[in-house]
Amino acid sequence: MSLRIGILTGGGDCPGLNAVIRAVVRTSEARYGSSVVGFQDGWRGLLENRRVHLANDDRNDRLLTKGGTTLGTARTHPDRLREGLDQIKETLDENGIDVLIPIGGEGTLTAASWLSDEGVPVVGVPKTIDNDIDCTDVTFGFDTALTIATDAIDRLHSTAESHQRVMLVEVMGRHAGWIALNSGIAAGAHMILIPEVPFDVEELCRLIKRRFQHGHSSFICVVAEGAKPAEGTMELRVGGVDEFGHERFTGVAHQLGVEIEKRIRKEVRTTVLGHVQRGGKPTAYDRVLATRFGVNAADAAHAGEWGKMVSLQGQEIGLVALSEAVSQLKRVPSARYEDAAAFFG
Ligand code: F6P
Repeated sequence: MSLRIGILTGGGDCPGLNAVIRAVVRTSEARYGSSVVGFQDGWRGLLENRRVHLANDDRNDRLLTKGGTTLGTARTHPDRLREGLDQIKETLDENGIDVLIPIGGEGTLTAASWLSDEGVPVVGVPKTIDNDIDCTDVTFGFDTALTIATDAIDRLHSTAESHQRVMLVEVMGRHAGWIALNSGIAAGAHMILIPEVPFDVEELCRLIKRRFQHGHSSFICVVAEGAKPAEGTMELRVGGVDEFGHERFTGVAHQLGVEIEKRIRKEVRTTVLGHVQRGGKPTAYDRVLATRFGVNAADAAHAGEWGKMVSLQGQEIGLVALSEAVSQLKRVPSARYEDAAAFFG
């Protein structure tokens, strides 16, 4: 049966979002004769009834390799969504939307799960470079961010060695240290700090000193933006929360660098990769994963599998309940960190 599908991208942008849109549009139109309406700038498009018709044309085809999101995205405070429930339902009715496919991270999928509870037919697609959505082995965007971070750390080795420096590299990873962990392993870092494991600056200084005493000429430490010092070991500035209710970071790597220089008088340089990690073309891996998510989300929408999220389970794409997927974040298990720790120091 042909349907009218609504689609939106919410939260931070991410390489692969356009590939999902392309796949949903193509599959819906070519396989089911359905039409797709894109809502602009995340949930705001639904609240303000701003939309575009998406067609399975040349423009859609070219989306595969484009970074960012052609629909635009935005963060929206959950309270604003709750207040706007009637407006959202009205927009969906007015546009004749049968099923909504929101593509997003924790915030967007939590909103999707709540909308589903409110009776809106929804199929979620998980995205985040942080890779912290539960019930899926991987989210698209992660591999691209990891590749960018790994390449950047590879490049820092030469300067670190030439100048016998300590190099700190801050990567994204708000609640989970997947980018830090994997880029650190892939690029041969000498320490990795992640949000899941509070760090001890004294211990870090000891490892740095020992490495140089053993005749090595550099020390590279990857720091996730959400990494925190163990209580009583170092003061980190507090940034409060932003307008969307998220913790505002104050630059852990810079503050750690100052602390290390003070404690062991070693030259430290800090690089913050920031949004570079979210930009540009998705890797081949992310294009494939995003495309498979898009095809399967369209199929699930037409099969009436609402209230679900597409997910990667091993090599297969499956469906999980949205409520289960958003009940917790997928953090780095301690055993994975232990593997990396074999190379610390
Ligand atoms: O959720 C992905 C993420 O890239 C986080 O790692 C980061 O803290 C945040 O988004 C940055 O968001 P913004 O683009 O709003 O600054």
